[in-house]
Amino acid sequence: MGKPLVLIGAGEMAQIAFEYFTCDSDYDVVAFSVEREYLRAPTLCGLPVLAYEELERTHPPERAEVFVAIPATGLNRLRTRLFQDARRRGYRCARYVSSRAFVWRNAEIGENCFVFEGNVIQPFVRIGDNCILWSGNHIGHRSAVGDNVFVASHAVVSGYCRIGAGSFVGVNATFSDRVRVAADNVIGAGALVVRDTEPGRVYVGSPARAVPGRSSFDVAF
Ligand SMILES: CC(C)(COP(=O)(O)OP(=O)(O)OC[C@H]1O[C@@H](n2cnc3c(N)ncnc32)[C@H](O)[C@@H]1OP(=O)(O)O)[C@@H](O)C(=O)NCCC(=O)NCCS
Repeated sequence: MGKPLVLIGAGEMAQIAFEYFTCDSDYDVVAFSVEREYLRAPTLCGLPVLAYEELERTHPPERAEVFVAIPATGLNRLRTRLFQDARRRGYRCARYVSSRAFVWRNAEIGENCFVFEGNVIQPFVRIGDNCILWSGNHIGHRSAVGDNVFVASHAVVSGYCRIGAGSFVGVNATFSDRVRVAADNVIGAGALVVRDTEPGRVYVGSPARAVPGRSSFDVAF
């Protein structure tokens, strides 16, 4: 028997997390949980779907861990709200790191992070809390990824970079070494970021430029 785990969420990310935690971790997923107004079906993947507001009744913090399995919705704000709430209620938030990811021994990865297969995380890297690194990214030596970040796939973060908290990084984005990405950025697919960025902006292209008049909070995820 593995450690009991409740997945917060019932959408695609939660069903993917169910697959990975079940087949590639020492956790046993025992239930899904969503906020009451989003309860649709009583079961998912053969497990109960429970009201999040009442989770302590059936799965108190001393008996189960949780993982908040929400993607970049609302520029990561939905996942962040539920992560902070779960911690406030005393839950320990699990992290998943694929057995097929390469993580150097002194790299640090925070709580409620999900690191898919094919990620390369080099020496002295720090990944904050509540980050999702989809498959195949390179996070170069001494770089730091802030809290609540979502990195899609095949991004290359060179050495000594900073990826600001709350940001979204699109597929195949590239960051030159020592670049500082500000908080709450959206970096478009295939962007080549060669200069530091400003908070709350959307960057696209090569070299990446801010999209005029566009706030990152207006991007629909
Ligand atoms: C950057 C992004 C978020 C912008 O989305 P949006 O706010 O809906 O913006 P729009 O599609 O209206 O595009 C705005 C302008 O930027 C351009 N643009 C958008 N994305 C671009 C990109 N990745 N590279 C270059 N130009 C881009 C558009 O062509 C448009 O230019 P125009 O005004 O001259 O026609 C989106 O295009 C993107 O790249 N998303 C990431 C996709 C991804 O990685 N998904 C992974 C799965 S989670």
